[in-house]
Amino acid sequence: MYNAALFLHLLGVVLLVGAVTTSLLTTLRVQTAGSVAQLRSLTAVTKWIEAVIAPAMVLIIGCGIYLVSQRDDHGSVPWNAGWVVVSLVITLLLVVIGVTVEASDAKRLHTAIANATDEWPQADLRAVQLASRPVYVVFFGTSLVVALLFVMTNRPGFVVAIAACVIAAVASAIAATIRIRSVRRAALVSDIG
Ligand code: HEM
Repeated sequence: MYNAALFLHLLGVVLLVGAVTTSLLTTLRVQTAGSVAQLRSLTAVTKWIEAVIAPAMVLIIGCGIYLVSQRDDHGSVPWNAGWVVVSLVITLLLVVIGVTVEASDAKRLHTAIANATDEWPQADLRAVQLASRPVYVVFFGTSLVVALLFVMTNRPGFVVAIAACVIAAVASAIAATIRIRSVRRAALVSDIG
């Protein structure tokens, strides 16, 4: 039973990594799309991402909690171990950000595209396309999944587990800022031209 739960936990991780990578690439491509048709086909992908992330999170959290509760037979890990608490808190934080901030950004983009004509560029649609929050959120989510992979495989105490997540979050904010600035500069040049 323990090994089956570990398999399902890792299956959830594989699905999550696939979905998060696809989400990152789609978000970056949305920023540089050059027509309404391109935006439409890109947002069709986001529906699939949402459909994969929910079961992935259920597998990761459900099986993860089961694994910790059974740990005594496989080498003792207390519930208050740093890596357990930090991974649980960060995974739940990712779920909350996904169902609130990320879902509302996706809805905003879908609505803007649904209301758009085929003319290009359109000011309203361009504002949603070049919004910075979805980029920060997707970089943040991806970097924290990588940090959690580190935390899970190294099983550190609180200090190192929290430091890994903080470093990942700071790196993601820097990467997102650089990306947003370069895309906005390019968009300004192309819209003026
Ligand atoms: C996105 C979040 C997560 C990722 C990417 C992740 C990833 C992983 C990976 C790669 C392993 C295998 C590590 C190894 O064998 O060296 C693992 C094992 C484990 N995970 Fe997670 N995990 C996540 C969330 C959680 C949560 C929330 C819990 C529960 C609190 C949890 C509990 C466990 C336990 C107890 C093991 C050890 C299983 C064993 O080796 O016997 N994980 N996880």
